[in-house]
Amino acid sequence: MADAAALRRALAERGVSWPADCEWHERLGSTSDRVKALAREGAPEWTVVLADVQTHGRGREGRLWSSPAGGLYVSVLMRPRFPQLGLLSLAAGVAVAEAAAEHGVAVELKWPNDVQVEGRKLAGILAESASGPSGVEWVCVGIGVNVAVPLAALPVELRPRVACLAESGSTPPVATVAAAVLAWLRVWYDALGSSPASVVAAWRRRAVAWWGETVEIRTGEETLRGRLADVDDEGALLVTTADGRSRRVISGEVVQARRAG
Ligand code: BTN
Repeated sequence: MADAAALRRALAERGVSWPADCEWHERLGSTSDRVKALAREGAPEWTVVLADVQTHGRGREGRLWSSPAGGLYVSVLMRPRFPQLGLLSLAAGVAVAEAAAEHGVAVELKWPNDVQVEGRKLAGILAESASGPSGVEWVCVGIGVNVAVPLAALPVELRPRVACLAESGSTPPVATVAAAVLAWLRVWYDALGSSPASVVAAWRRRAVAWWGETVEIRTGEETLRGRLADVDDEGALLVTTADGRSRRVISGEVVQARRAG
């Protein structure tokens, strides 16, 4: 694998001419670390880095992202000129959902950016940014999709919680899935600039149906309990606590209260 030419061909078949470099490594610590280094060197928007295997794949909240062969590991450099950065994660989730649907897998999105199949994780998204005096300079969106990861290659405790695209019955080439994810990412990124409300609506349509249910949201040291009300037009979660107050949450891990523990 590690075939950047195959990726460009798969993009071209979709009518997409990618506007920047695509690096595809056989083995890398983390595609996001590579993109962040390129960003600091001034690489242009839409620079893409992929790897067949990551040795230090990173997930949200300092967790590791197991990255054996058979997965898609891709990071994309963006230099957004619009203010709705909180919506980028949601847009990336919608893009992955569209790509999964092309391969016969219907997913649900769990705020802020888990991509799930019946509660098991198909993909994860990690958005990291850097700001300068004039605001956000770049955002690195890192996406991991379990295309055909052998469960035996994952830590035992993760295996019951992982879903793969290959469960649909066919195993698409990773380059084909990468092209689908990247093409949809551009579509939904453009939508952020022209119609941010359409991104929120698209995300809400695919969200796990926990609206009105009591959830716990773990944010660092704090755990907030309340009824899940909605997601607002900046991508923040709105929760109504027992005293009737509305709280706005911009990061954290959502768990159904009956499952929390
Ligand atoms: C999560 O915890 O849900 C986010 C996981 C993000 C993993 C991807 S794989 C490609 C990119 N490189 C990394 O080191 N992490 C992201």
